[in-house]
Amino acid sequence: MARFTFTFAFVLVALATSSQALNIQSSQVKANTERADAVKAAFVKSYNGYKKYCFGRDQLNPLTKTCDDPLGGWGATLVDVQSTAHVMGLNDIYDETVAQSLKTDYSKTSSEEVSIFETTIRHVGGLLSSYELGGRREKKLVEQARVVGDKLMYGWINNNDIPYNTLKFWSGLPTPKTDESAVIAETGTLIIEFDRLSKYTGNNTYRDFAIKAELATINTIPLPFPGLNPQRLNQTTGKPVGDYVTWGGGSDSFFEYLNKYALLIGTQEIYFPAWITSVKSSILHLITSAGGTKKKLTYLADYSAKNGGTLPRGSHLECFVGGNWLLGGKLLDNDDIFNYGLDLAESCIHTYTASATGVGPEGFIYRLANGSSQGIEIKNAEFYAENGFDYSSKPYVLRPEVMESVFYAYRLTGDSKWQDLAWKAFQALEKYCGTDTAFTSLDDVSNSTTAQIDLSESFLYAELFKYSYLIFTDGNVLDLGKYVFNTEAHPFEIDNLDVDFRGLNPGPIKAPAAHVTADAEVPSATKLSDTSNGKKAKTTGYGKLVPAPLFTGVNKKKLAGVTRDQKPFQAAPKARLAST
Ligand SMILES: *[C@@H]1O[C@H](CO)[C@@H](O)[C@H](O)[C@H]1NC(C)=O
Ligand SMILES: *[C@@H]1O[C@H](CO)[C@@H](O)[C@H](O)[C@H]1NC(C)=O
Ligand SMILES: *[C@@H]1O[C@H](CO)[C@@H](O)[C@H](O)[C@H]1NC(C)=O
Ligand SMILES: *[C@@H]1O[C@H](CO)[C@@H](O)[C@H](O)[C@H]1NC(C)=O
Repeated sequence: MARFTFTFAFVLVALATSSQALNIQSSQVKANTERADAVKAAFVKSYNGYKKYCFGRDQLNPLTKTCDDPLGGWGATLVDVQSTAHVMGLNDIYDETVAQSLKTDYSKTSSEEVSIFETTIRHVGGLLSSYELGGRREKKLVEQARVVGDKLMYGWINNNDIPYNTLKFWSGLPTPKTDESAVIAETGTLIIEFDRLSKYTGNNTYRDFAIKAELATINTIPLPFPGLNPQRLNQTTGKPVGDYVTWGGGSDSFFEYLNKYALLIGTQEIYFPAWITSVKSSILHLITSAGGTKKKLTYLADYSAKNGGTLPRGSHLECFVGGNWLLGGKLLDNDDIFNYGLDLAESCIHTYTASATGVGPEGFIYRLANGSSQGIEIKNAEFYAENGFDYSSKPYVLRPEVMESVFYAYRLTGDSKWQDLAWKAFQALEKYCGTDTAFTSLDDVSNSTTAQIDLSESFLYAELFKYSYLIFTDGNVLDLGKYVFNTEAHPFEIDNLDVDFRGLNPGPIKAPAAHVTADAEVPSATKLSDTSNGKKAKTTGYGKLVPAPLFTGVNKKKLAGVTRDQKPFQAAPKARLAST
């Protein structure tokens, strides 16, 4: 089916060049103005709370109405509001936030340490996207991005291709922290933003350095499977540290940018082929159907040979994958990749519909097709049998990745079931995350009387509200054939609409039969052994013997208001809990 629509699409583009977009979206996409307006109203309410209590600060804590500056203190929310306000046609909000961003002094910081990654995706990405959307008139936005970019360049030292991600002492010359290895989501999530910075400043240095880091990451050896880099790598040797493979936090946007950057600049070289290699290995080694449940679900597992091989762990952060594979599958006209994308999106939104609140969790676990949970403890066997997942981390911190994948699914299929699923999810968000100011986080999505957590990070504005809105608004608003979204959902115009990626189509790629066997018998807990150290597992609590990834969700969307160190997110400190 995809093949026909795609061929037809190209004929249309050829005939109607005035449409100025790759015709990859479904012609069935229809606006639902009432729902779009409801999302817009919620955005405005949240923004007004931020404006009233924390204008210019990084983020508002909606319950206590206090402010935090964990990301440099340059108004992360201020910048993350802009592209969404513009897309929603809220010109007053766009204008006042842009004006305030122009007053921000980016030459110094209130934070002792600054993350290159977090700063790049919000400030370099946000300011330049804002510049584009505003018709490329406000050159001072580019100047602000240049001030930020020049400081970030201090992450590259000793002729390393790969930067150190954490910079200390922003005032004056920043110095990088050299005692931490890198994660691939840091080294491989610079090219889109640095490329645009070079484009608009005319200085190629930013792009050149980002490409060095990107190529060093792509070319890392040895890898467990072609294209599947472990999470961590060493800046001086360029070699992997550990062997933990995941598309979740710490790795996610490295994979995400491979096909997106190729689409942005219009190249068939290096990046899209690297993405195809990663996806192919993922289908062969990581894709699995859920075993020991009556639900038909498709998951993308983690992998670590040192920790027992395939590990059935999923996360909210990883749920961007459905959308990313849908986009790549569509551009290649590859039905297998496209259909896995749909299945993954479906399994992710299922964690919402199956939860008592209608909102999905931070982390979940499951059984592989053969029924094994690989030593990771499924605590609630009854819930698992019924629903095909169990909770490993129950909070919800306003993450957007599930809505993001639903957005791609809707725009690329036009199937109204995605709009309905999104609407159900959005109503749940309003009900549970709503406060008298901005949306806030949840303590436990499986509890219909959950407490709220006093945490509302800037990506609520850039991502969650934007993707929710785009599912319901007109299909020509940020058409996927015209714009590429950075990992913070700031849109950039595609450079070249004449590039046809179908020549790269790798042909059919199917998961091995062993990965899709349904109805496997569930092994009893006592029979399972801990494969990581060869010792017999204990009957209870054996899940703890399987180490978690070296890096969990804290990097990409750092739980800044909750904890500033890099510990895996478990539960919010009690002091920050407040009841609904
Ligand atoms: C280009 O940017 C680099 C990195 O900040 C800087 O060192 C260099 O001086 C800039 N070049 C020009 C011509 O401004
Ligand atoms: C990277 O590898 C070098 C050489 O083995 C080592 O000296 C250095 O400590 C490593 N860096 C980190 C951050 O572990
Ligand atoms: C189940 O499948 C996984 C992944 O292929 C494999 O590592 C594991 O040994 C299998 N377990 C059983 C009990 O067959
Ligand atoms: C559900 O949340 C309420 C309110 O925070 C709490 O009192 C109750 O103990 C929670 N229930 C469970 C099963 O955790």
